[in-house]
Amino acid sequence: MCGIVGYVGFREAYPIIIKGLKRLEYRGYDSSGIALLDNGSIKLSKTKGKVVDLENRAKDEISLNGTLGIGHTRWATHGEPNDVNSHPHISNSGDLVIIHNGIIENYAPLKKELINRGYTFVSDTDTEVLINLIEDVKKNDGLKLGKAVRVALTQVVGAYAIAVFDKNKPNEIVAARMGSPLAIGVGEDDKEFFIASDASPFIEYTNNAIYLEDEEIAVIRKGKKIKIRKISDDSIVDPYIQELQLNLEQIEKDGYDHFMLKEIFEQPNAITDTYRGRMLVNEGIIRMAGIDDNLERFLNADRIIIVACGTSWHAGLVAEYVFEELSRIPVEVEYASEFRYRNPIITEKDVVIAISQSGETADTRAAIQLAKSKGAFVFGVCNVVGSTIARESDAGAYTHAGPEIGVASTKAFTTQITVLTLIALKLAKAKGAISNSDYHMHLRELELIPEKVKECLTLDNHIKEIAVVYKDMPNFLYLGRGFNFPVALEGALKLKEISYIHAEGYPAAEMKHGPIALIDEQMPVVIIATKKGHYDKVVSNIQEIKSRKGKIIAIVNNGDVSVREIADYVIEVPETLELLSPLLTTIPLQLLSYHIAVMRECNVDQPRNLAKSVTVE
Ligand code: M6R
Repeated sequence: MCGIVGYVGFREAYPIIIKGLKRLEYRGYDSSGIALLDNGSIKLSKTKGKVVDLENRAKDEISLNGTLGIGHTRWATHGEPNDVNSHPHISNSGDLVIIHNGIIENYAPLKKELINRGYTFVSDTDTEVLINLIEDVKKNDGLKLGKAVRVALTQVVGAYAIAVFDKNKPNEIVAARMGSPLAIGVGEDDKEFFIASDASPFIEYTNNAIYLEDEEIAVIRKGKKIKIRKISDDSIVDPYIQELQLNLEQIEKDGYDHFMLKEIFEQPNAITDTYRGRMLVNEGIIRMAGIDDNLERFLNADRIIIVACGTSWHAGLVAEYVFEELSRIPVEVEYASEFRYRNPIITEKDVVIAISQSGETADTRAAIQLAKSKGAFVFGVCNVVGSTIARESDAGAYTHAGPEIGVASTKAFTTQITVLTLIALKLAKAKGAISNSDYHMHLRELELIPEKVKECLTLDNHIKEIAVVYKDMPNFLYLGRGFNFPVALEGALKLKEISYIHAEGYPAAEMKHGPIALIDEQMPVVIIATKKGHYDKVVSNIQEIKSRKGKIIAIVNNGDVSVREIADYVIEVPETLELLSPLLTTIPLQLLSYHIAVMRECNVDQPRNLAKSVTVE
């Protein structure tokens, strides 16, 4: 998973591409590169490191002129992150240039064949194989670039979003997609075009975009209408240009030091945006077209299977507790990566809910395809509008959290829980599994959550003080019970991924079955001990930790007395219904991870080895 940007038009391409790459760095940031077409010659600069390193290098290395160019920010798959393996890659003749997001799975036999035909390779990448394959097809079959790319792609197995240009064609870029996202920004009167992994690199230039579908190839020429064809059979596809709602403000830091912090603080609004227009509290109505139109499928389902990865999987676990509590429909939650390969029993009476912030996660997509092939009904819960999972699902609901740029998910988690809670309440009502008064009470309480999240956010300074004390600890344990067990998992994941401290999440009561052996004065234990979640049992767990000299950071409700007496630190959050408490208890855990990571001088928004959307297996 990498970020790609391309431009052809009347403006200088370099600043557009560099700015675009910076916006896409969340997708990969171990190396980057750019190729510009300047008066018929290719100016190439690439480097290990971030886009800012590329900027420093490019200005000394190449002329920055040209109104056509492509750029890439990489998350390495084939070949270590170094200068040579960075994209763009150039074909043997020196005419063709490519950037690629994805994996060519059959690159080894293709490479062997090309070597037999006299091609040489300088990098370890699958992408260099692809550009030479395109060149070989172009030369042997005497094809134009667009045709050659299409024919070459019919020989390829794997995933890709690519952009290719030929130095002899000053106004043309060819782009194609299979499995990795690719958006084309269409400028006024077709005078300019932008290519990118998502719309953020071009949003200040145009609101009109075409999202290529899998198996599509586009020939993009300045001043001409875009031509799109199917890769497999060369049939013509009518371009569908949509108007984007995204604006520049949403993808900038807005005065915060990091996107992650901005996104943590956006949660009150994000949660409101999730239920706005859907939850009519006074009328007692929840309106969700994706559910309304398919109500029978849900009500007649034998069970709901939730598939997801990472933080989205944790939201799925919360949803399991919520669905079973409210709507009494059996729920199973699966890692998409396990589900897709373990020959699961799926029937036409199953409803599969796929949760994904990006809507592009490869394992979740594969799980959906498997479920669909067995006749299950697939409902997508995505954040990114128009994303692949949103399009491939039978129906769905967006979380409306707005762009999440920080690699660590924060507002995606709370808005996923919000939308899943709305669904659970709606089904509970339709099934008659909840009394009228309980139903209304839940709506009223959910409406209060954004204000209560705001209150949690005022704890920021207090949490920073706690972070100072524990930032150098090598391990952390996170414990929670019931609805807050997944929150413990999520808290541990947040700490691991951004501060590189080892952390484990456990159900509090499981501690005595093993993890208790780890506890000593070097082990901070973050434990969720809110009033309505088996409070007395959790207090006993806290005592057990204390008597083994563990350090206790407890998330409690306002005014708590018992835990305060035992814990080293308490963080007080407002009370709410037990099943809504994850929306509050997760906030201090996000802030704790954030501050610890900042104090350890980690790159919070772009942690090492990670990328925002995992579009490879
Ligand atoms: O875009 P998705 O929700 O499908 O992504 C799933 C995971 O890759 C993602 O949640 C990942 O675990 C985050 N880095 C967690 O903060």
